[in-house]
Amino acid sequence: MAPKPEFADRLTAYLREKGFVYGPEPEIYGGVSGFYSYGPLGKRLKNNLEEIIRKHFNTQGFYEVEFPIVTPAIVWKASGHLEGFNDPLILTEDGKESYRADKLIEEMAGIQADHMKDEELLKTLREKNIKSPTGKKLAMKIERHSLMMRTSIGRDTEAYNRPETATTTYLPFKNYMKFFRDTLPFGVFQIGKAFRNEISPRQHLLRCREFTQAESQTILFPEMKQKWEKFEEAKSDMMPLWTEEMQKSGKEPKETSLQEAIEKKILKNRAYAWHLNVALRMVLDFGIPRKNIRLRQHHSDEKAFYSDDTWDIEVQLRSFGWAEVCGISDRTNYDLQQHAKFSKQKLVSRTLEGKDEVPHVIEIAFGVDRPFFALLDLAYDEREEDEQRTLLRLPPHTAPIQVGVFPLVKKDGLAQKAEEIYGALAKRFLCVYDESGSIGRRYSRLDAAGTPFCITVDYDTMKDDTVTVRERDSMKQERRKVSELEAFLGAKLDG
Ligand code: GLY
Repeated sequence: MAPKPEFADRLTAYLREKGFVYGPEPEIYGGVSGFYSYGPLGKRLKNNLEEIIRKHFNTQGFYEVEFPIVTPAIVWKASGHLEGFNDPLILTEDGKESYRADKLIEEMAGIQADHMKDEELLKTLREKNIKSPTGKKLAMKIERHSLMMRTSIGRDTEAYNRPETATTTYLPFKNYMKFFRDTLPFGVFQIGKAFRNEISPRQHLLRCREFTQAESQTILFPEMKQKWEKFEEAKSDMMPLWTEEMQKSGKEPKETSLQEAIEKKILKNRAYAWHLNVALRMVLDFGIPRKNIRLRQHHSDEKAFYSDDTWDIEVQLRSFGWAEVCGISDRTNYDLQQHAKFSKQKLVSRTLEGKDEVPHVIEIAFGVDRPFFALLDLAYDEREEDEQRTLLRLPPHTAPIQVGVFPLVKKDGLAQKAEEIYGALAKRFLCVYDESGSIGRRYSRLDAAGTPFCITVDYDTMKDDTVTVRERDSMKQERRKVSELEAFLGAKLDG
């Protein structure tokens, strides 16, 4: 499936039109790329995804925390972000346009380039005779552009908006140790905003300067990684793994059990395999089809500066091709060691042998905006021949409006009965009541919002207390008793 930028344009226009995503914001002042807002339907869908993530982390025993977004410079000196978190910048010869060199190569020549060093980037740009998308010649020089978004605290204390939630999750380590009674392993997670000063973000929500992350951090000792008990209950689960070696030799990803991945040393240890699987289950639970998912190992020269091993969960989109929605990293004891050094605090825990050691971290790093975009990309079903039937085939449990309730006509008590049903269902589901326009128009409005079920009150309702329930994708209608609606919808919508 080749990426289709023109599809992306239609999709993003649709998302604005229907109240999912507006921007770049602030639109009325011309907009700044990389900043988007979520409209009435979009915010609900995003909340639904965050709730799925929250539910999974809570179920697996992680605790949610919240740390300030703005942090003084020392935090990012310690973490290594101030020094090492940057992108390769290239300008056009006239100096008027700037691009991220690796993304430009990907976009203009279809070559994966995010692992390339500066010399290789320049060589590829030359060899492929790449110009800017506006046709201008490039100045053949790469500068390093920091992704850190600077701000200040008070009068002039240098500070930064966090570029990831992860680092800020580590900082209260000593307080966690009290809460968890000095016992490892434990897990904490944050859902919140992060900021990256991207050079020239394009690709809509896939590359934002302000975005939402949902990242868990498991704190453990290295010897716990291979013993990881929770592995047992998951060891037969399958994951579509795509190792570095398979990528280099042109092989396709292969469904592999966790057990096999450990036996064949595809994955280094049981704890890491378990975390990968937890993350994959979440992506499946969002409703993203398995055939569109692969788990791609980072190349040795592609990993972030803090990571010992990283795999990305990628989803194949119709608009932009394969896109990362989650990264799972073994960050070793890098972060806690760095923060211990810079804060001059002891960030240690006691091992079973009674030694004080700096623990390791395994991280599951979701961005929320990307799976949000992926769901819409895969759900959008345009029917050019029939404008009335544009559909959003959103997975029912994620839909921002789950149920529409309509009276066939307003008179003869039908509207009152429909309002009664709406009132009862709205206590549990995300519902809308609509009595305006023809019934066909009302159906198509909600098809376009991704609403999986519509309930219509008609004259038979007044006789036998049944209604029609119409399913979005098949358009099939069946009669159901009003008294059974809540149980029927609950089974379909509770995920
Ligand atoms: N915490 C990992 C990341 O932001 O990508």
